[in-house]
Amino acid sequence: MLQGKKIVLGITGSIAAYKSCLIIRQLIKKGAEVQVVITPAGKEFITPITLSALTSKPVISEFFSQRDGTWHSHVDLGLWADAMLIAPATASTIGKMANGVADNMLITTYLSMKAPVFIAPAMDLDMYAHPSTQQNLKTLQSYGNHIIEPGTGFLASKLEGKGRMEEPENIVAVLEKFFSQQESMKGKKILITAGPTYEKIDPVRFIGNYSSGKMGFALANECAQRGAQVELVCGPVSSSMQVHHPNIHRIDVESAQEMYEACKERYPSMDSAILCAAVADYAPETRADQKIKRTGDDLVIRLKPNPDIAASLGQIKKEGQTLVGFALETNDEESNAQAKLKKKNFDFIVLNSLKDKGAGFQTDTNKITIITAEGKKDYPLKSKVEVAKDIVDELSALIPKP
Ligand code: PMT
Repeated sequence: MLQGKKIVLGITGSIAAYKSCLIIRQLIKKGAEVQVVITPAGKEFITPITLSALTSKPVISEFFSQRDGTWHSHVDLGLWADAMLIAPATASTIGKMANGVADNMLITTYLSMKAPVFIAPAMDLDMYAHPSTQQNLKTLQSYGNHIIEPGTGFLASKLEGKGRMEEPENIVAVLEKFFSQQESMKGKKILITAGPTYEKIDPVRFIGNYSSGKMGFALANECAQRGAQVELVCGPVSSSMQVHHPNIHRIDVESAQEMYEACKERYPSMDSAILCAAVADYAPETRADQKIKRTGDDLVIRLKPNPDIAASLGQIKKEGQTLVGFALETNDEESNAQAKLKKKNFDFIVLNSLKDKGAGFQTDTNKITIITAEGKKDYPLKSKVEVAKDIVDELSALIPKP
């Protein structure tokens, strides 16, 4: 999977820099070409001579080569690479990457990078656990970068054992898995719903819910990274929720009715749909044209049922198409999810419960159970990015291969 792949390896000033040699050795053994870009602090921990001997390439550290003044083009490196790996990545480099502080060759290369970027943090636990570092990692992840850490519970509530750089063989395994999956959904068309819906009461008020769109956006990114074309129909989410992958086409809607129309139009030409949005089941029967004034009397708003998007897609689902739903429950979780699986004609349903800490609305983590007609699989608490991988793995197994 790594045969012929071009990897830019960024090395920063951490004691774990010596492990970069092991990463290089394994990458080269598996047929990859490696170009090292090192920060000034990185050179305090490992010499460029060692690195260039291992990679058979001069190590890039400055904007100009000191020997002959040759200009090192970070833009060319960004176009050359199939992937960029920053291992070890210090808190300082992570902070600069998250904020675009382009004061060395590694950061300028990162900012010009067209290929996927993998980051293996290395620092002590206090630095790792600091809210600044956590925020910077979240920011980098929201830009579509991959964070490689020991274990799979990135940004989970437990921080023990975190901060230490992941072992070289596991880092290389992550790259191998990425390249093996990169094309696995090529040519497939996936419809994804995300976020809440708002049902207008008057020009200034609405009925809504707490969905942030994070789970749905993570699913869209995961499918896009595996080569699928994604139609992401999303309700009103915050402006910080942005898509960065060229395979994702975003359609913004506000109400359940608008989401229903966008989905019904698109689903017939899709291979699959994942319905992650928290759709309002009811909307005000009438919408006031003017702001409703306070009178002191009780106010009664009569609600009418919204279309059930999932159930109507379940009805028109054709042979070869798949439909995946979510169930957000507060009680009798499994039996409620089982009922929705059948009623809405889902191939499988992803159950998350508000009883589980760190699961459901707005959090960066989720804890899910995947339920099919045949059985169920429980997963531990993980970042929504990791949860999306588990869901898309399950979906990929159902999509007919060409
Ligand atoms: O957005 P986040 O903050 O990251 O939170 C993620 C999430 C909690 C919203 C997500 O993980 C989730 O559980 N989404 C589904 C929430 C929900 O509305 O569940 P439900 O049990 O009410 O609906 C069951 C299924 O039918 C869902 O797939 C839903 O999208 C769909 N549905 C529901 C009502 C409706 N009128 N039309 C629908 O399509």
